[in-house]
Amino acid sequence: MKAPDHFKTLFSPQDIQVMVEGLAEQVDKTLPAEEPVVCVGVLKGAWIFHADFCRALKRPVTVDFIRASSYGAGTSSSGVVRILKDIEVDVRNKHVLVVEEIVDSGRTLSFIKQRLEQAGAASVKVVALLDKKQRRAVPFQADFVGAEVGNHFVVGYGLDWGENYRTLPGIYIVPGEALH
Ligand code: IMP
Ligand code: MG
Repeated sequence: MKAPDHFKTLFSPQDIQVMVEGLAEQVDKTLPAEEPVVCVGVLKGAWIFHADFCRALKRPVTVDFIRASSYGAGTSSSGVVRILKDIEVDVRNKHVLVVEEIVDSGRTLSFIKQRLEQAGAASVKVVALLDKKQRRAVPFQADFVGAEVGNHFVVGYGLDWGENYRTLPGIYIVPGEALH
């Protein structure tokens, strides 16, 4: 699917590929060499990033998913995080990477990170493709970030607006006028 004309391209598919490969390289350098890792993708938005990122790592990967809700159908966070689908892999004594497409208020990831640490993981690091740093409601810092984005609403490459536009190939800014 092609993006509507009034959406502004923020990252092309090529830009995204460079970011994903760069992130995988950084992570590979940081974690002990050859050590297997459990990559927990945060559904649904991270599903495409997770698939690309996991395959770019040069180490054995176990794949799992978690689903939490902090957004409803709209564009702002409700402040309450609920687990809608929990992990299935036993993460005890394993290195875990939480793979998320965008950090906004920080609520979802601080909740998920804490939960995985409590589950007994040897380490929990967060890899975020995008980071809306200015929008934090709780203190939270991802360990690896692809790019910072301003206070825009973005779609594509897994990111949705009311469940639409996830399959757009790049990442696009939805103009503020269109959101209201
Ligand atoms: P947080 O708990 O507020 O950090 O929520 C982060 C989640 O909100 C992300 O994983 C996305 O699912 C969603 N989100 C935040 N900003 C955007 C955006 O600009 N476009 C689409 N989804 C977003
Ligand atoms: Mg998400």
